[in-house]
Amino acid sequence: MGKTILLVDNNEPIHILFQKLFIDTEYTIQIAKSGNEALSLLEKSQIDLILSDIYLTEMNGYDLLTQVQKEYPKVFRVILSENKKDKLLLKAIQKNIAKLYIYKPWDNQNLLKVIRGIFEFMNSISSPELIKIINNHEGLPTLPSLYNHLCEAIHNDEDIDNIASIIKKDQAVAAQILHIANSAFFGIKTSSIAHAIINIGLNNIKNIVLATSVFNTNLPASRMKAFAQLWQHAYLCNQLTSLLYLRIFNKKVPVEYLSAGLLHDIGKIVLISIFGNDYYNILESDDFYNKEKEEIGITHQQIGGYFLDWWELPMPVVESVLYHHEPLNINVVNKDLIAIVHLADYYAQAEAKSTTILNEEVFTYLGIEKHIVEQYVNESGILSQ
Ligand SMILES: [Fe+2]
Ligand SMILES: [Fe+2]
Repeated sequence: MGKTILLVDNNEPIHILFQKLFIDTEYTIQIAKSGNEALSLLEKSQIDLILSDIYLTEMNGYDLLTQVQKEYPKVFRVILSENKKDKLLLKAIQKNIAKLYIYKPWDNQNLLKVIRGIFEFMNSISSPELIKIINNHEGLPTLPSLYNHLCEAIHNDEDIDNIASIIKKDQAVAAQILHIANSAFFGIKTSSIAHAIINIGLNNIKNIVLATSVFNTNLPASRMKAFAQLWQHAYLCNQLTSLLYLRIFNKKVPVEYLSAGLLHDIGKIVLISIFGNDYYNILESDDFYNKEKEEIGITHQQIGGYFLDWWELPMPVVESVLYHHEPLNINVVNKDLIAIVHLADYYAQAEAKSTTILNEEVFTYLGIEKHIVEQYVNESGILSQ
């Protein structure tokens, strides 16, 4: 079925450009000039994707998308802005009010590609096989209560000391946050959770809490080693993602992507919690990728992507879960990030057995030679920690 896109913008020439761009596509376009007009269209018709300018007359784009998130959670939310450093834009992204942002003026071909990518992304995390597995299993992972409390506190703009005291209730999570704050990437020496929060940033803290609590789910003692290996792999991958992003693009990884490496294989944890021993055996198998598809019917990328999307993580993080084994897939929207996560995933193999098949074309895409990347990895000392 064709998808419907709603553009909300108070600038009429933009309406014309937008409609023209989609004239020969399978998409239906709806236009609203204001937030209220958008809300009445959402009430009347089935909308799949909303693109809203950050500044509208009456209600602004931030407030509109906040309402859409609450009342129409299935609608994919994109924010448009002319100013990359706009405070409201940054807030919308950090709070995941917008799953993605697009700068104006946009490049037509690129906009079409991004929109295709969004719909493919939505399809992958709602495939019938996936939904069947999810519907047929009880005891699916739920959001840890610590994570929920934390999100609520952040949403209510509570002060850092209150947020720190929520985190301190879970010793394992608190220790992990200090460990990350004291790592080479942040380079701060602290034993204070509040200090760590200020340096790491709230959004990133949220993702670390999520990853740590998912990895700390009730484990049977016999499986502790496998979980520890998965955690170590995720942790190394996260550090390598930050390192390679910095070395290759010459800038720090944006804060909203900082947990992409930590969460990339979260689907494996979800599948262990659903299939127990059966999935352990697949994980141990030499033919892991084929066995996962043949015996489970879906991949750890798909189910990981599904849960992170359901838990409302930023799209680039969900995308790195979904595409870390196929970084150059035509539908990838955040290609630079996913290419880096793919490399980090490949090199983050310390004790755990290597399962990632390297796509060498990524080096060409990034315009860098393999031996240089390997030099960065070795020089960093991350793998020998
Ligand atoms: Fe993976
Ligand atoms: Fe991995």
